[in-house]
Amino acid sequence: MAALEPRIEAIANELLDQVEASGQLDLIQDLAYPLPVIVIAEMLGIPAQDRDRFKHWSDEITASADSLLGDSGAHGQQAQAEMAAYFRDIIAQRRAQPQDDLISALLAAELNDEKLSEADVVSLCWLLLVAGNETTTNLIGNAVLSLLEHPEEFARLRSNPALLNTAIEETLRYRSPVQFMFRVTKVDAELGGQTIPAGSMVMAGIGSANRDEAKFSDPDRFDIARDPNPHIAFGHGNHFCLGAPLARVEARVALTAIFDRLGDLRRANDDQLVPPKGFAVHGVKHLPLLFTPKP
Ligand code: HEM
Repeated sequence: MAALEPRIEAIANELLDQVEASGQLDLIQDLAYPLPVIVIAEMLGIPAQDRDRFKHWSDEITASADSLLGDSGAHGQQAQAEMAAYFRDIIAQRRAQPQDDLISALLAAELNDEKLSEADVVSLCWLLLVAGNETTTNLIGNAVLSLLEHPEEFARLRSNPALLNTAIEETLRYRSPVQFMFRVTKVDAELGGQTIPAGSMVMAGIGSANRDEAKFSDPDRFDIARDPNPHIAFGHGNHFCLGAPLARVEARVALTAIFDRLGDLRRANDDQLVPPKGFAVHGVKHLPLLFTPKP
């Protein structure tokens, strides 16, 4: 992560260069959305001109989580098929001509004398893209939104920038980008006096757990210095988020660039904010802001 940080900083600053003179930006479209896609696409070794297609696929697949609640999920399946075909193509190119990127490294990797199959590499690429993009976009957007809604906390952060890390953790708790995760019970399980039979699909409410008054004092308060902050925004246990360190660096770099360069940051209008597609994700689709460029 330390080695990646300067490149992430450069990307964030390039994105801000494009809007700085105008004194306004849509925080999501102009910074929070492109940043994680560019970072992961560069890590994987995806050509820059294909980035927009990625974002589209990743959005469709995330939104298709709604298929569990009755939506047909057809768009998600189509996006998944297109993305897999695209990766098979890149994999063939990297097999013929390895580059200094993650796809080439995955193709070269061996475990117990066995290489990963093409299907394994496709599914790993797919997982990294889908798991890491919209989640990180929403973390950055949710952090700025929460600070704008709590001007006293924003002022506190400005006067003590060392609180940035705890402010990011508090955003993860207060506005968890992933609100739900699914599990299937292996055995009968008892929870809150109820028995959940073995083999049941369980929807665990991460966002709700992160406001649990038995765990957090004053849970509905956004407190950028909250410590300890045992939130489960990145999950818990065996499947704890693989990308948590990357997401934290991206959020830190993006927020530092915003605060260093955009003065007097404020909402551009009072329009009702619209959530992104997909019931399990929490964020805003657009966040138009005005600012005064700092010298
Ligand atoms: C703020 C940003 C992020 C949030 C809130 C988030 C949240 C989560 C959560 C809740 C899980 C647990 C899933 C479960 O328990 O079944 C998870 C797993 C995972 N995340 Fe993230 N994530 C974020 C960013 C990223 C990034 C940047 C990447 C990769 C580049 C990533 C890759 C993964 C992977 C691969 C898993 C599966 C781990 C496993 O099953 O062993 N995530 N994430």
